[in-house]
Amino acid sequence: MLFAHRRATVWRAMSFVAAVVAGLILSPIGQPQAVAAPGPSFTNPAVPAPNSADPTLVQFNGNYYYVATTWTSDIVMRRSSTIAGLRSAPEQVVFRSAGDTMWAPHLEQINNRWYLYYSVELAGAPRRTHVLESAGNDPAGPYTYRGILNLMPNNGWAIDGAVLKLNGALYFHFSAFHSDGLQSLYIAPMSNPYTASAFGTRISAPTLAWERQDGAVNEGSFALQRGGRTFLTYSASHCNGPNYKLGMLEYRGGNPLAAASWSKFSNPIFQRNDANGVFGPGHHSFFTSPDGTETWIAYHANSSASQGCGTTRTTRVQKISWNADGTPNLGVPVSTSTVLAGPSGEVNNTRRAHLRNQHSNLCLDDYNFGTAPGAEVRQWTCNDLPVQDWYLTPVGDNYYAIANGHSGLCLDNKDFATAPGSVVQQWTCNGLAVQQWRLTTTNGTTTLVNRHSNLCLDNYNFATAPGSEVRQWTCTGAANQQWIVG
Ligand code: AHR
Repeated sequence: MLFAHRRATVWRAMSFVAAVVAGLILSPIGQPQAVAAPGPSFTNPAVPAPNSADPTLVQFNGNYYYVATTWTSDIVMRRSSTIAGLRSAPEQVVFRSAGDTMWAPHLEQINNRWYLYYSVELAGAPRRTHVLESAGNDPAGPYTYRGILNLMPNNGWAIDGAVLKLNGALYFHFSAFHSDGLQSLYIAPMSNPYTASAFGTRISAPTLAWERQDGAVNEGSFALQRGGRTFLTYSASHCNGPNYKLGMLEYRGGNPLAAASWSKFSNPIFQRNDANGVFGPGHHSFFTSPDGTETWIAYHANSSASQGCGTTRTTRVQKISWNADGTPNLGVPVSTSTVLAGPSGEVNNTRRAHLRNQHSNLCLDDYNFGTAPGAEVRQWTCNDLPVQDWYLTPVGDNYYAIANGHSGLCLDNKDFATAPGSVVQQWTCNGLAVQQWRLTTTNGTTTLVNRHSNLCLDNYNFATAPGSEVRQWTCTGAANQQWIVG
């Protein structure tokens, strides 16, 4: 191994020289151009099961606020300044409803207040849509219950509602059953954010073949407006199969409550991609990047064609684009192995550092340039190569995710171990506690404690030779657990 590593060292030295020379040649001012630190990239799912279906993701003042179906009485919210941090963001209960099996919460800002629309079943009554209003302009609440929206005759079933702001008026679009038995899209006028001033009228029924797979359904509608045009995107076919997908209506002028004012695009705009291992993508929301230049979609999907409407549906996030004709282009659902850069304008509080052990004077190192999950972490003579660049992203409570500049993988407590001597490896960044490290700095040296094992990052056996191991050990305060981070 040492021989291989030595060969790698020669390669590194040559690459380092090449990099500097290239920098001098390529950079117009003769100085090696600074390489921007990689933003907090992420892989999907952005939010893992179980509270991860039917997501609404809102970006407000540089933070993301995330709500999704919980199947309980609770509405829980995650907040993060980056998409990459969502996974490890704690779930905060923002409201406990009187009903159960809460579905599809929708978060909307109207006149400097935030509203949460969701459906629950109250004992013995049909599932209906309820509304909460925030006390101030903070999406995290606190919230006051504002009652049930009276959307269908006879207190009828109504779910998946969201607000459309059009021509200076508020409308509420939702899913309900028509007398012909089809679960369709409806729209109702609103006199204020928590009052429907009339029952809904149907504007779309699942009549096309791609809307009727595994069950004829139109639901989960979400308004997308750009360049004076209004699109109503929605989920079609039944969520209990892999053919759940997105379709789109466009408002063509006239009374928004009239079906004739809406036209349906004849083909779906987003659907399963077997090659990427994504099935039943749907029940989405759109949000803008913190700098407002990008539009992104959050949606749920399954990783197997045999999964359905349960808690296997996880939240995925990806950027969309726009066609020349002004319609949205959602592309295809990306695989869960695709590494995506975070939305532009995120407050990138990730910092790059070397971690040099106080006892060995060696640096934490992606051993032998590993790139596969499970790649080794060791100590090596300090150098300026990406294998010794570690990107620290705060995930809250003074914990950090620590990703390697060469592998893009995260420092990881292998196999959720807890015993002294447990192995430290690199693994696909997943935001779990095994990849969260609490940094405590005293007199210029730092200890790193794993959130799962509560053990310290340790220069194993007080070694001093390049290639020495790094493990986890009971925190002792000794020099072999002290690291100079910088
Ligand atoms: O996930 C629960 C419900 O199932 C959602 O409200 C609906 O969109 C889907 O059919």
